[in-house]
Amino acid sequence: MMFRTAYLILSAASLAAGFSITGTPHFSSIQKSAASSYHTVSAESSSTRLYMADTAETVSIEDVTAELKQHKDDFDAKASALSTLAEVEALRVEYLGKKGPINKVMSYMRLLSNEDKPKLGAVVNEIKSELETVVNGKKEEVEFVEIEKQMEADRIDVTMPGIDRVERVGRRHPLSMTMEKAVDIFVGLGYDTVTESEASPEIETDYFCFEALNCPKDHPARDMQDTFYLTEDMGTLLRTHTSSVQIRQLEKRKPPLRIVAPGRVYRKDDIDATHSMIFHQIEILALDEKGKLNLGHLKGTVEHFLREMFGPEIKVRFRGSYFPFTEPSMEVDVYFRGKWLEVLGCGMVDPNVIKMAGLDPEKISGFAAGFGVERFAMVIHGINDIREFYKNDIRFLDQFPTFYDEGLTSLLNGDVGRDPDGNVSEKVKPAAEQEQTQKKKQAPAAPTQEIDISKLDIRVGVITKAWVHEEADKLFCEEIDIGEEEGPRNIASGLRAHYNLEDLEGQRVLVLANLKTRKLVGFPSHGMVLCAASEDGSKVEFIEPPADAKIGERVVVDGFDGEPVS
Ligand code: DAH
Repeated sequence: MMFRTAYLILSAASLAAGFSITGTPHFSSIQKSAASSYHTVSAESSSTRLYMADTAETVSIEDVTAELKQHKDDFDAKASALSTLAEVEALRVEYLGKKGPINKVMSYMRLLSNEDKPKLGAVVNEIKSELETVVNGKKEEVEFVEIEKQMEADRIDVTMPGIDRVERVGRRHPLSMTMEKAVDIFVGLGYDTVTESEASPEIETDYFCFEALNCPKDHPARDMQDTFYLTEDMGTLLRTHTSSVQIRQLEKRKPPLRIVAPGRVYRKDDIDATHSMIFHQIEILALDEKGKLNLGHLKGTVEHFLREMFGPEIKVRFRGSYFPFTEPSMEVDVYFRGKWLEVLGCGMVDPNVIKMAGLDPEKISGFAAGFGVERFAMVIHGINDIREFYKNDIRFLDQFPTFYDEGLTSLLNGDVGRDPDGNVSEKVKPAAEQEQTQKKKQAPAAPTQEIDISKLDIRVGVITKAWVHEEADKLFCEEIDIGEEEGPRNIASGLRAHYNLEDLEGQRVLVLANLKTRKLVGFPSHGMVLCAASEDGSKVEFIEPPADAKIGERVVVDGFDGEPVS
């Protein structure tokens, strides 16, 4: 059988490229000129043979095919070990690039006879497409892994606590806390808050600040408040009180209305420990059909507000007074930490004010009140110099981590606040408390005979139910049976640092039973559980009644046979 065969003469240049059919994966390049130099070499050959000039060997198409398959196997082995995009690209260039084996074999094609071309062509194309598929797949795979890696490296765990830069942590200002607390109380009573600047401007006209509040130009009451006037004609001024917001509201809306308006006010006062030229007030106004709001409502509202601010036990005193815009007018005092303190002005809105607002005082009536925020914050937090509020000294602000009522709770829990790390810290004691502690330290211990322990009604009890307070992380809430007909009492105690919840039910305790009800973070507590504490306060344990003591039995102390106070 005769076959047409061809010689392929490879040039010196291709020799230099180092073609070897078995050695390196590179076929040498074939020069164009070489294309004309093929001729039939052997009639006996079973197929076309290619002459490889570098090795001076002739190889068959089958040899080239086998060689290609070998390359394919090598390629597959290398591909499986790739892990970066750069490696994939390098492998692609090595096998599928211009100088790669596929391209080399492709360039032989046009040197082959039409009959032989498809033989090699089919193999090359198949291997080429296989390699391309592997390269593309690998690229995708590696890209995916790289993106995953990158995402892992760049991952931000949003649930992680922020970096604790204690020095730079901000604090609520005691004035904002006080203002917010006060406004919230009225909002809780259905009052609308007025804060927008056009409804509550600090630069005010004489009309809104005085005239419409029943203080005509020649009225002596104007001297009560030294005013910063802004114009020669004294028509424009820095408002001296938030009462001006009442009139602005009446221009905009008709009764029934209830508003609470916090704001900054200005007075030409000399600055000292209790006076500042700029301070804050909160104003309330309630107007309705005549007869619906009377003095009783005003007193009830004010008392409710003061109890929320100072605690449920606060004593409140109303004194007759004078304000041009109310009739009758009253000043209100609270008995706090051993003295009466004036905290608020109020009264029934003067009919003249209602008339000037274009309303009929025969049909409309109501009450108003106004008070200074600084005054409240000072009294409640035990601050004795108003100037401290405006210095923004972190050491001062740090002393007021929370508003007083939480402070009160923590005080009862033996924890007077937390430092910025959340640890209980001595230095964050409210100033008043620090003062008290100091005084206590200095004061000689009271002689024992003055203490009449029989005033305390201490009863044997048993905890019948216990649960954790939902808002206060120090408090347990308990039901304690002290043998009373009405059933067990609710008592809250700050023992979470010392006992587990499971320890409580069934625990026999001593209860101080004749205390006034006190709300501990919203939970009305009717007494206290007696505990003993180690000297440094780190260990606290229940004082357990003897096993044979009956529930409800009173604990008495030898030598003290008085009756408990009611
Ligand atoms: N505006 C008064 C002041 O600055 C406080 C005040 C007193 C406001 C009585 C009132 C009120 O609304 O009824 O001293």
